[in-house]
Amino acid sequence: MQKNSSQATDPKIIVALDYADADSAMRLVNQLDPALCRLKVGKELFTAAGPQFVEKLTYSNFGVFLDLKFHDIPNTVAKACSAASNLGVWMLNVHASGGLEMMQAAKQAVNNSNKKPLLIAVTVLTSMNQATLNQIGIHTDLSTHVLNLAKLTHQAGLDGVVCSALEAQMLRENLGREFCLVTPGIRPANANKDDQSRIVTPAEALALGSSYLVIGRPITKAENPLAALQVIHAECNNL
Ligand code: C5P
Repeated sequence: MQKNSSQATDPKIIVALDYADADSAMRLVNQLDPALCRLKVGKELFTAAGPQFVEKLTYSNFGVFLDLKFHDIPNTVAKACSAASNLGVWMLNVHASGGLEMMQAAKQAVNNSNKKPLLIAVTVLTSMNQATLNQIGIHTDLSTHVLNLAKLTHQAGLDGVVCSALEAQMLRENLGREFCLVTPGIRPANANKDDQSRIVTPAEALALGSSYLVIGRPITKAENPLAALQVIHAECNNL
């Protein structure tokens, strides 16, 4: 079977597979269409289901964003990025706070792999605010810190960052058209906000400069997940 055929159509929607086990995740995946979305596997599902499950998804033609946010010494992160690249994922990520040398080592490892997935970085976790940043000794204004880390990511040659759609415009203006901005916190108009506070609609996020939208519960908890995906996909393509 061919891997990652979704790349041919470059769907903008990345469905977050926030599940505790492979069976629950597969029940959802079996209802989705790889031409309309990619899939995000994070620490919970990866720790429970393992790399074989990630490979299985890639062989089902879904582009996979492996969201493990590597952050360690450069050599260790580079080795982890090589291993992740060999799984055939479409995108993976590291923490920009690991520094320039760590990100350069990660990029080198990805470039040396056969598959060359996109490599992006997390700047500041959106669970953090100015107070929690101060607690860890960072007294720079939060949005300046986000921009500084995004610039460092760009300098290291990575493909982009994960960010709030509300930061997308500022980052797009500073880092150019090619820099990939992956944004969670997306809610279609009328959808439940769940525990997200600063949300934007899919259309707004794309208008602000997002490249890809990470969407979980509006699709995974929908009565008909494929129908929910189709509606959001249509909204994205009607811009
Ligand atoms: O269900 P929902 O659409 O809120 O899921 C969003 C996904 O994006 C979850 O996997 C969440 O962990 C992730 N995420 C986020 N905010 C960030 C980074 C990641 O919501 N800043």
